[in-house]
Amino acid sequence: MSNAEFPVARPRRLRRTAPIRRMVAGTRLHPADLVLPMFVKEGVSDPQPVASMPGVKQHTRDSLRKAAHAAAEAGVGGLILFGIPAVKDARGSAGDDPEGIVQQGLADLRADLGDTLVVISDTCLDEFTDHGHCGILTPDGEVDNDATLERYASVAVAQAAAGSQVIAPSGMMDGQVAAIRAALDSNGFSHIPILAYSAKYASGFYGPFREAAECAPQFGDRSGYQQDPAGPVGEALREVRLDLAEGADAVMVKPALAYLDILRQVRDSVEVPVAAYQVSGEYAMVEAAAANGWIDRDRVIMESLIAIRRAGADMILTYWATEVARRLS
Ligand code: PBG
Repeated sequence: MSNAEFPVARPRRLRRTAPIRRMVAGTRLHPADLVLPMFVKEGVSDPQPVASMPGVKQHTRDSLRKAAHAAAEAGVGGLILFGIPAVKDARGSAGDDPEGIVQQGLADLRADLGDTLVVISDTCLDEFTDHGHCGILTPDGEVDNDATLERYASVAVAQAAAGSQVIAPSGMMDGQVAAIRAALDSNGFSHIPILAYSAKYASGFYGPFREAAECAPQFGDRSGYQQDPAGPVGEALREVRLDLAEGADAVMVKPALAYLDILRQVRDSVEVPVAAYQVSGEYAMVEAAAANGWIDRDRVIMESLIAIRRAGADMILTYWATEVARRLS
């Protein structure tokens, strides 16, 4: 074995001390790039722990405000709100009820937080439907794309009216961004951006979220509307292109760690900000392994976030947002 450049070429020179490594770092995390997903539950007097997501809670309106305040203090860039209503029905009526739990939570947050961080709302129906699917069902149990669009439009307008500063549609219906954009624009919300969950895969990594948001489908699964993990990569790029043509202001790839290749390709194909969602299962795996003493929790958290950022994410949705923001500052 010979290496003509050795001993002159010694890459280890730039790894030798922490200040050198810090100076030459190619990937940096900043608290403002982090977005905290939060859950608010109607009709509970104490925050409820989520067994599969240690440290994550279904908040009361009051504890939501406190946790959001802590996130803002830590410099977190934004939060995205999910809600669990007391009553669910087939059309997800709580989703666009002006007094619905998400609308109440949004109003509370906006009153408290002002412009300290961005308040985003997830726009979908699965948390509000009794069958747990992301849309309206046909009599034979399929998700009716076009009937669902009207519901999304109404949910988005209700959220914007309650104070949401960014609408984030996550249901993977065709045409959802266009329908929401039109509804926002004709209701005085043309200034509200849309962060589209554009490339969202039908993923086993959403398992713990379905406990947190109490939204597991009561029959079937979501593979009729979310993307197939084995599908062509071009499908993700097409979803992104369609969403941008429909008026999306920023796009998202979800989950994150198992889809870093998709994230990189999306990043390279668009000019708008790209978000990645480090989902519930990614969180739960790290917490569970760390609880067993099998991995170094803090180190793995940072490494996973660096990887997501390096793959091209401008913003990262992560349940560790507040903790990591504190660590970074
Ligand atoms: C749908 C939605 C889901 C998540 C965010 N929005 C669940 C799903 O598609 O089944 C998952 C987030 C996570 O797993 O952390 N409203």
